[in-house]
Amino acid sequence: MKKSNVDINALIDSMTLKEKVGQLVQFTSHFFIKSNESLTGPAEQMGVAPEDLYTVGSVIGFSEAKDMIGIQDKHLKEDPHKIPLMFMMDVIHGYRTIYPILLGLCGSFDPELVKECSRMAAKEASASGVQVTFTPMVDYVRDIRWGRVMESCGEDPYLASIMGAAQVEAIQGGDISSPEHLAACVKHFAAYGGAEAGRDYNTVDASERALREYYFPAYKACVDAGVKMLMPSFNSLNGVPSTANKWLMQNVLRDEWGFDGLVISDWGAVHELCIHGVAENHRQASEMAFSNGCHIDMMAGAYYHNLEKLVKDGKISEEAINDAVRRVLELKKELGLFEDPYHNASPEKENSLALCDAHRAIALRAAEESSVLLKNDGVLPFSTDHKKIALIGPFAQAKEIIGPWSCHGKSEESTTVEEGVKNLLPNSDIISVTACSFIWNDTDTSGFEEAINAAKNADAVILCLGEPENYSGEGNCRTDPSLPGVQSKLANQIAKVNKNTAALIFSGRPLVLTDINDSVPAIMQMWFPGTEGGSAAANLLFGKANPCGKVVMSFPKSVGQCPIYYNHYSTGRPKKAKYENEYKPFRSNYIDCGNLPLYSFGHGLSYSNFVYESLTLDKDTFKEGEELTVSVTIYNDSEYAGKEVVQLYLQDLVASAARPVQSLIAFEKVEFAPHERKVVTFKIVEPMLRFYDAYCNFISEEGKFTVSCGRADALLHTTEFTLKK
Ligand code: BGC
Repeated sequence: MKKSNVDINALIDSMTLKEKVGQLVQFTSHFFIKSNESLTGPAEQMGVAPEDLYTVGSVIGFSEAKDMIGIQDKHLKEDPHKIPLMFMMDVIHGYRTIYPILLGLCGSFDPELVKECSRMAAKEASASGVQVTFTPMVDYVRDIRWGRVMESCGEDPYLASIMGAAQVEAIQGGDISSPEHLAACVKHFAAYGGAEAGRDYNTVDASERALREYYFPAYKACVDAGVKMLMPSFNSLNGVPSTANKWLMQNVLRDEWGFDGLVISDWGAVHELCIHGVAENHRQASEMAFSNGCHIDMMAGAYYHNLEKLVKDGKISEEAINDAVRRVLELKKELGLFEDPYHNASPEKENSLALCDAHRAIALRAAEESSVLLKNDGVLPFSTDHKKIALIGPFAQAKEIIGPWSCHGKSEESTTVEEGVKNLLPNSDIISVTACSFIWNDTDTSGFEEAINAAKNADAVILCLGEPENYSGEGNCRTDPSLPGVQSKLANQIAKVNKNTAALIFSGRPLVLTDINDSVPAIMQMWFPGTEGGSAAANLLFGKANPCGKVVMSFPKSVGQCPIYYNHYSTGRPKKAKYENEYKPFRSNYIDCGNLPLYSFGHGLSYSNFVYESLTLDKDTFKEGEELTVSVTIYNDSEYAGKEVVQLYLQDLVASAARPVQSLIAFEKVEFAPHERKVVTFKIVEPMLRFYDAYCNFISEEGKFTVSCGRADALLHTTEFTLKK
């Protein structure tokens, strides 16, 4: 870290109350770009006086390095204290070079790859002038209707904790003054992903047990990884909006977890306390949020208008304001902004890094390792000798595959499936037919005939299907998350005329694929794969890359199964999996659908054939302080070199509170040569067996457990052991 000699306490002493409050206010860059003239638009509506802008502490969003430098220069001229602005942005899955959405990337089960992607994004963003990113988003999710599942790490709290912490470590890099790194902000605390009915911003009601067991671990892991900032969620949690939720923000976050960093509201969330109906006006909302430890008001303008008066009226102490300002200034100091207010950003660096070869190569590998081969009835990989290839569907030539929250990524800079296949097979005859749209209520099938003819004449058919980018992401929820429009119909008709057909699915969520699952011989889930998506698709389809991604959010058979997740508690009347397709009266099941998902958490095929030969334990009983070694033997019974994610699941058979039927407790991604056999070992220690008992104490209990390998809904070997106290 660069040594800064700025004396923060002396600086605070020299500031007026108005100037201090300004440090707790965040506005968008548009406010600053206009600040020479009188302010217009949202700034004017918010009643912001142009002459006050110099007091403001931070900025959200801007286009490029030169804008940031321009705003910072102007600000430093006007601010008598020369306190640099801090620039923040949502750098979610890449900056200019876009890697797959997190819901896909986490399915790589490769924390090092996630780190590589985060480092690359941090580097590009920092060169452009970003100093803080609103990442990672680690909201626990179970409902595919919610549009923001695409940003999340999926339905397993253990995996999400590892992936969340990996992002924090890579983004911050141990020294945020380094031009390669940024400060990270974990969000959205808490349980934003539990929105009722999968509708964004909706109410969340969750028991303390559910919060501690499923929703909290990933936020806590980010706090433990040293994340500098945290953002409360928009939703109310058990009746109280997070921004003003004392139990959440004080008792849990600060007192229990010891978080000592900076808290920033979500966009306009202080204002929304009034809409939630817990505050009468901005004055009360500001008092509630600030007293709850929300230091910065993002874009509500509530602190700007009210904090000073609240101090003067004795409602908030000036010491509390000083404490919040100190945190803001300390972060600026740690970023090295007092010495270099640009954090080494420059248009030259920005241009040389954006989409450079090294970054494109990372994006390609990430897209290959995130895609999931859901199904393969022997058609994939396609032979590279195929001469005539038909690409059919609305994603055949679509550039819009980078996904929502793509920051400064541009669709036109991505490779399409058509480009990917053409680059890989320059001598083949490739025909693309869009055939239909991906709009949810479009019924037009007039393009089918051309597509069917193309399919009939092709050696191989690639169906390029999915939902448009703006069907997921913030505010974009669906009650019917199946393939929109007539795409399922198209797929079924095509698969009838050409058996050598594989479908690629582009989407921001697991879609309900039941309609095409039986008819289409092979299905590859691409998610929104980013800049190199088309090349990754081609490499995977034609065997230049071997699929190894796994599902991290279950694909339901029907939306009526939502919320559906593998690690649910047992009921008193479960239905046995062998009756999956039969209705059983007085059992926990449905008349018209099975209980299992179509594709469960942990599922993902390979061109290799991984045979799980055995799972053994070195002892069947162990105590606190001891280790239990689990050995899993796997054989690659194929000619393909490949990678397998070896997953270890645990079930606590009898405990004082209901336990999940399975929980992932360890995993390792292992590389195999053709016909290679490997023994993968895991250690189980007592803390891995702890859970929240009936009183929410985190303890382990003596008794029997099972340990299994395989995937969540298809355990291949299971063995029992006992924990003795
Ligand atoms: C989102 C946050 C985001 C913020 C700033 C909000 O609408 O909920 O995730 O960080 O905007 O862009």
